[in-house]
Amino acid sequence: MQDMFDISIIGGCGHVGFPLGLSFAKAGFSVGLLDVNQKAIDQINQGQVPFKEEGAEALLKEILPKKKLTCTNDPKILLKSKCVILVTGTPLDEYLNPKLNAITKVIEEYLPYFKDGQLIILRSTIYPKTSQKIDQYFKSKNLNVHLTFCPERVTEGYALSEIKNIPQIVSGFSPEGIERASALFSKITKKIIHMQPLEAELVKLFSNAYRYIHFGISNQFYMLAEEHGVDFGNIYHAMTDEYPRMKGFPRPGFTAGPCLLKDTMQLCSFSQDHFHLGHAARLVNEHMPIHLVNQMKSKISLEDKTVGILGMTFKPESDDPRESLSYKLKHLLEMEAKHVLCSDEYMKHENFCSKENLIESSDVIVIGTPHEAYQTLDFKNLPVFSVWLQPSCS
Ligand SMILES: NC(=O)c1ccc[n+]([C@@H]2O[C@H](COP(=O)([O-])OP(=O)(O)OC[C@H]3O[C@@H](n4cnc5c(N)ncnc54)[C@H](O)[C@@H]3O)[C@@H](O)[C@H]2O)c1
Repeated sequence: MQDMFDISIIGGCGHVGFPLGLSFAKAGFSVGLLDVNQKAIDQINQGQVPFKEEGAEALLKEILPKKKLTCTNDPKILLKSKCVILVTGTPLDEYLNPKLNAITKVIEEYLPYFKDGQLIILRSTIYPKTSQKIDQYFKSKNLNVHLTFCPERVTEGYALSEIKNIPQIVSGFSPEGIERASALFSKITKKIIHMQPLEAELVKLFSNAYRYIHFGISNQFYMLAEEHGVDFGNIYHAMTDEYPRMKGFPRPGFTAGPCLLKDTMQLCSFSQDHFHLGHAARLVNEHMPIHLVNQMKSKISLEDKTVGILGMTFKPESDDPRESLSYKLKHLLEMEAKHVLCSDEYMKHENFCSKENLIESSDVIVIGTPHEAYQTLDFKNLPVFSVWLQPSCS
């Protein structure tokens, strides 16, 4: 069959797949986005970006008329592609173990649509040694594909600029696969780093776990200081002000989202639960909403109050609620307060209200996510609680 696409992306409407597809299309490749989310497919085909991603809407509008981007639920596009990138989710189960079959199930589903000679790029964040298992799986099916693992390392919402600037890690199971993947990525990024697949898998997991632990240190210090009645903002300022060895010390906040906890837990599982730092970071980071509610309760009685939560997404200026600790906060407050209201700047929900209505109807305000828009709000002298240290404190 004639190849119509240079690249097809399974999970092409997702937070990783979509900006990656746009980046390749911008570089002149013909790109197919394959997804099962019909709403997102329709939105993209109409020139709308399904989630907040800086610069994506303008780029999509520039690319669509050039017919360089096809967005569909039809797996037959894979058969017409020289390269297939796979970037579907790799979640944990209810016991915080990685769902090891999440990726293999997708590969099995599309098996009839892969073909000999194809370059396959795994881009999801995967449990160590998964790429080797997938390579063996393709071989067991007598499929002569070139499997590579090239992890995504961008920060959500800013992928388009980061893809260009972050070195791309390329690993693989055949010299041809490594060469072809390197050639593709060298069209959209400046630097390629080559390594073994297991090394590449660990680069990604170690980086996310490092960040999760890093935030955990800050959160632990924050709670320690607060419990002793001192202002962590002052401490943070003194620690970091013109003191080079504390450069990069993060501010406290809700450490959440679809990646950091999940990937730390993947490593915990890989280490057979000997990754003590990872477990400890989870206990600290997941305690932050409890700490916040306890702080509130120590200052005011909540049972007769309406509490308004401003910000429900997992990080500021994002519209993504996945694994947001604002929901844990909401759950805790629902057990303590008379009533809980929620609002978010970017994420719409039928049960949310506007920030103005929330302030009007609440007795107490708590910042779940410090979106910039909340910095200039008039809180009308209501008590405001937050674990987030604003940049002005640094
Ligand atoms: N979100 C991030 O910032 C980020 C950054 C780096 C790496 N990652 C990793 O990338 C992977 C994907 O994450 P994401 O945030 O893009 O997830 P996502 O949920 O935003 O995107 C996944 C996409 O795959 C689609 N999909 C699911 N099953 C499918 C199937 N059978 N066929 C076709 N499409 C299917 C979904 O509809 C969705 O659009 C994960 O392993 C994640 O850890 C994410």
